[in-house]
Amino acid sequence: MKTLFLPPPASSLELLELLRPICWEGRPCDPNRFLKLSRVLDLPPEKLIKSISAVPISRKEEVADFQLCVDSLLENNNDHSRPDVQVQATRLAEKLKCDRVVSEISTGRGTVNFKINRELLTKTVLQQVINDGAKYGLKSELFSGLPQKKIVVEFSSPNVAKKFHVGHLRSTIIGNFIANLKEALGHQVTRINYLGDWGMQFGLLGTGFQLFGYEEKLQSNPLQHLFERLGVHFDEYSGESFYREKSQEVLKLLDSKGLLQKTVKGTAIVDLSGNGDPSLICTVMRGDGTSLYATRDLAAAIDRMDKYNFDTMIYVTDKGQKKHFQQVFQMLQIMGYDWAERCQHLPFGVVQGMKTRRGNVTFLEDVLNEIRSRMLQNMASVKTTKELENPQQTAERVGLAALIIQDFKGLLLSDYQFSWDRVFQSRGDTGVFLQYTHARLHSLEETFGCGYLNDFNTACLQDPQSISILQHLLRFDEVLCRSSQDLQPRHIVSYLLTLSHLAAMAHKTLLIKDSPPEVAGARLHLFRAVRSVLANGMKLLGITPVCRM
Ligand code: ARG
Repeated sequence: MKTLFLPPPASSLELLELLRPICWEGRPCDPNRFLKLSRVLDLPPEKLIKSISAVPISRKEEVADFQLCVDSLLENNNDHSRPDVQVQATRLAEKLKCDRVVSEISTGRGTVNFKINRELLTKTVLQQVINDGAKYGLKSELFSGLPQKKIVVEFSSPNVAKKFHVGHLRSTIIGNFIANLKEALGHQVTRINYLGDWGMQFGLLGTGFQLFGYEEKLQSNPLQHLFERLGVHFDEYSGESFYREKSQEVLKLLDSKGLLQKTVKGTAIVDLSGNGDPSLICTVMRGDGTSLYATRDLAAAIDRMDKYNFDTMIYVTDKGQKKHFQQVFQMLQIMGYDWAERCQHLPFGVVQGMKTRRGNVTFLEDVLNEIRSRMLQNMASVKTTKELENPQQTAERVGLAALIIQDFKGLLLSDYQFSWDRVFQSRGDTGVFLQYTHARLHSLEETFGCGYLNDFNTACLQDPQSISILQHLLRFDEVLCRSSQDLQPRHIVSYLLTLSHLAAMAHKTLLIKDSPPEVAGARLHLFRAVRSVLANGMKLLGITPVCRM
């Protein structure tokens, strides 16, 4: 994009860089960009990038746009030599002068706050959101230093012979989200569905194993259906039975390294404590010489390393398997595979009380049916519901959004109590609300057309509501960054819910219909930017935004 900044006066501090998330143009990190600021403050540029963040909007007061957090600049100092952050903040602020980009510099609790020239903020944010489209926030400086990695995400992984249950549903939507996010950030992602097929006919196929068999099975399954709405796909379907023979090689390897111990029962174990602590003993072979779940996971991990040479491998399962994965990773480690430390288990909690009208136990087909029928009923009862071409499809998309948001709101590790009524509230913090907001914004664009969209007058967007929205849009990259670091979708969810609340308020007050063309046009730009970021965020979460409902 063409840079929209006004040329700074020669004496300026070039605080332009403060517009971190939005002035990035996809170039590799240019160390000069923070140089001037870094020189004035006598701080290394890398530290500045991490310590400057957009200020979260607040209901009560007008906030600055960016803040430099003194505490995070000092993070490596030990406590004794740590200077008072407030004093430091004041000292730093004194070194800085306003310029044509930064209109106000103040200090807060341990922060130096910056207010950006309002019109510049407006123009730059909106242009960037609109020009970057689906890439908005992803090209930020926050990610520019990160090398592209090969990431394997193993998720879903149901047991073919048994029913797909709520835990697998959670694994599917969480894994899909992680894979979407990492891929969007430029990493090379391999998605694996590791089917538990043990004990069924697939296992007996042995060497005659054929992927085709799995896919056929899956196609007649509501699972396939789920994957297609959610837009979930896999690069590899493998199964436990596939590793039957390779498990034997693993056993031989363990034996050759002196790690395998035979028990009196004829089973074989690996003693991870080295001193017989029963809680750290892992059984890897049955009495009849066949492998166990853990052995097959060892074989699968080694095979994936050979195949993909991954930098990170993430397993998404319920927290009940925590110990299992700890043991698998530890065994890989003592077998001499240093890359074991690249393996990571992402555990999630239990969903309680997910019952459908048909009965107590909830399986995938029941959940999907329930979602569809409840949503169709909801939609029929609401006056504002539009005539839809495909009401079934809309019901499903809105319903899945509801399910995903409910699931992603809290920490993944927490158990939560499921409630259909809460999930489907249209006004609360739900996926229905996100979809509704998206549909409303879309219809705004449809009604008023794109005639206004060539240019806009920034002076028309200086009211507090518009500014709050712009400030919120400014934080999208930080939120993506957080979720990518801790693998928790809740940061993105709460961001999108706030965005939707802001949009709902603005929709009431920032009228378009009876406003002069210039004002209407500028507002349409703003709403269009909101819809774009909302849609981007929803898609990352695995939600297909609807345009009508
Ligand atoms: N199929 C297993 C289950 O349903 C989950 C597999 C998890 N992945 C793994 N590599 N062990 O419990």
